[in-house]
Amino acid sequence: MKTTILSVRAMEILDSRGNPTVRVFVELSDGTTSAASVPSGASTGENEAIELRDNDPKRYAGKGVLNAVANVNEKLGPAITGMDVFQQAMIDRRMIELDGSPNKSRLGANAILGVSMAVARAAATSARIPLYTYLGGAGARRIPVPCMNILNGGEHADNNVDFQEFMAVPLGAPSFREGVRYVAETFHVLKRILKDRGLSTGVGDEGGFAPNLESNEDAIETIIQAIERAGYKPGIDIAIALDSAATSFAVDPKGPYDLKWSGGGPMKSEDLINLAEDWVSKYPIVLWEDPLAEEDWEGFKRFTKKLGNRLEVVGDDIFVTNTQYIRRGIEEGTANSSLIKLNQIGTVSETIEAVRMCRDAGWRAFISHRSGETEDTFLADFAVAMDTGHLKSGSASRSERIAKYNRLLEIEEELEDTALYYWK
Ligand code: PGA
Ligand code: ZN
Repeated sequence: MKTTILSVRAMEILDSRGNPTVRVFVELSDGTTSAASVPSGASTGENEAIELRDNDPKRYAGKGVLNAVANVNEKLGPAITGMDVFQQAMIDRRMIELDGSPNKSRLGANAILGVSMAVARAAATSARIPLYTYLGGAGARRIPVPCMNILNGGEHADNNVDFQEFMAVPLGAPSFREGVRYVAETFHVLKRILKDRGLSTGVGDEGGFAPNLESNEDAIETIIQAIERAGYKPGIDIAIALDSAATSFAVDPKGPYDLKWSGGGPMKSEDLINLAEDWVSKYPIVLWEDPLAEEDWEGFKRFTKKLGNRLEVVGDDIFVTNTQYIRRGIEEGTANSSLIKLNQIGTVSETIEAVRMCRDAGWRAFISHRSGETEDTFLADFAVAMDTGHLKSGSASRSERIAKYNRLLEIEEELEDTALYYWK
């Protein structure tokens, strides 16, 4: 007897920024119940799947998601009721067809993804296996290296740092558990350094500190100082990863750029590439995401040509987890890795396809949370299942970030000495 979907129901809850988002509940014919919550970005790519908002100024400044909730309850739910819960790709395709738009704008990517995630979790629960095993198979046992965003800038903070994320990457740790400890200790030392300099130790959207600094470079130097004072070797124990999120300081999505928050002034793609080359020669940078803006395909390509053999070049806003753009990137040599965010594309099976395309091309895939998150830990299991070796889920503070790391600690413990942990 197959296990079918009996009912699907959604409600409006709040994300970590206090904005509404969608939570979906699924019930199966065997009595299994599950739930999943959808995250939400701030520095979103132009071509992302559309998050449906009510635009009713009387509720949550227009950000309510009651229409998306109604779409789950009245359209998506009824369309997949009776389907076999283990047919994830078929269920996702049914929802995509029902939506009918190229970017899920009619029913909302937030509505569709909520159902897709809750269905996957219900299937795993029904099969009595962990979600990472259900999605990744019996071989899923590699815990991702956590790229922890301990210093925030750009659109995730109110400081004068242009680059959005400065991540500490504990790639030299012997295990995930030790990696998290390395960075959490560094995070606390960083707080002390900032305090001693009379700088703010308030945190940004992803739980990293968000002080006003002298320059973008000051951010990286301060982190390196923190790594050393915490007793670790930069580049050996803990390396650095950056997300410039360059679209957010681009004058035009094709470039040029304006380092407006730091007062650094106008820059061409070439200037940013030269700056990166200089930094890569001075600092242990192993990954650089969105060094250029979402339509600056040429700049990206030049960046990758120059630095792609020395570090992972990740496209986020430019690829938006969409195989159409990732394919172009592979053909043109735009990058050598894609960021992977479930809600940029809007279903679990399409996200898996994006990861598969990266892997087939010899690219890496970098699993990511959003700046607006919930306590849902789906991402942690997803990252283990996809076997991509790294993920980002924010800093060593704020429970919506830590929830994913805590879930990974649990998975590592569950796997005992069969758990793997390595950067590449
Ligand atoms: P977002 O930021 O969730 O605000 O888009 C994350 C990122 O740019 O990687
Ligand atoms: Zn990004």
